[in-house]
Amino acid sequence: MKNILTGIRPTGNLHLGHYFGAVSNWIKLQDDYNSYIEIADVQALTDNFNDPDKVRKNVRELTIDLLSCGIDPKKVTIFIQSMIPEIAEVTIYFSNLVTISRLYRNPTIKTEISQKKELFGHSGESVTYGFLGYPVSQAADITVFDGQLVPVGEDQLPLLEQCREIVRKFNTIYGETFVEPEQMLTENKRIKGLDGNEKMGKSLGNAIYLIDDYETISKKIMSAVTDPNKIKKDDKANPDVCMVYYYHKLVNQDNLETVCQECKNGSRGCVACKKELINKMMEFLKPIQEKRKYYEENMDVVDNILKEGTLKAQKYAKNKMKLVRENMKIDYFE
Ligand code: TRP
Repeated sequence: MKNILTGIRPTGNLHLGHYFGAVSNWIKLQDDYNSYIEIADVQALTDNFNDPDKVRKNVRELTIDLLSCGIDPKKVTIFIQSMIPEIAEVTIYFSNLVTISRLYRNPTIKTEISQKKELFGHSGESVTYGFLGYPVSQAADITVFDGQLVPVGEDQLPLLEQCREIVRKFNTIYGETFVEPEQMLTENKRIKGLDGNEKMGKSLGNAIYLIDDYETISKKIMSAVTDPNKIKKDDKANPDVCMVYYYHKLVNQDNLETVCQECKNGSRGCVACKKELINKMMEFLKPIQEKRKYYEENMDVVDNILKEGTLKAQKYAKNKMKLVRENMKIDYFE
């Protein structure tokens, strides 16, 4: 079985974007691969270094979210990044193989620096060494676990490309040590936000969270963007520009044809259409929220899953490190 490694930053609860864009895919893969999911707390700290409480709290929150969605801890090793010192170690060795200008040219990093003006200044003049270097650290995340396949969204491709470059360089200099990972693009690459934005995101304030209750969901869906040309209840409309229809596609497959036809021929008002979506959304979220309730009441179960996953990951990393040290000729006294 091939190794899959993916990571996720513990900075908040999961929303539909995470679910349909990533987690549902990880669930499909868990039977056929040796899967590792890294809770990337070290990476989260690169732009949240001033808020350690937030990162700590979200390690558990995220684990509960993942388990509630159906990630099976018997099949998937869930571990905490900061508990694997070998990742930090390999990051240091990798950092010799990457130029600073190459990091600045990484499109993902470029975009993120320009988005984080508050943290890194208007033209990115205050960007930290740690943030600029997180692609190097991410390359270590993947390669320490011999990740052959990395299921990611499109925004992560430049990071993977950079990882492959590092691996090639490392192997050329020190001998065959690490595997060059391949990407595995998720089909539902990106989920749009309630406001019609191309991306659903926490910072954009346009997300539906897996923990949202009926009231919250109602409010959000009632204010979702619909076809602006539909003014009266029986106006004909275009479902393709309506966010409500867009979410019907995710959670109301069975009735989709009807929703679409009635919208087009004007026999369906937006309020009724939204109400139907609210109910379907709650139906979709119900099993996830029920599982969450179980885990919240049994925190020891969650902590054990994290502990066992981390222990397993520690063993793997420790063993991998032997080869790294040997090949780099830093295996003193062994
Ligand atoms: N950068 C990823 C994100 O923001 C998270 C991540 C950390 C990751 N380590 C990884 C993804 C390793 C894939 C492989 O979503």
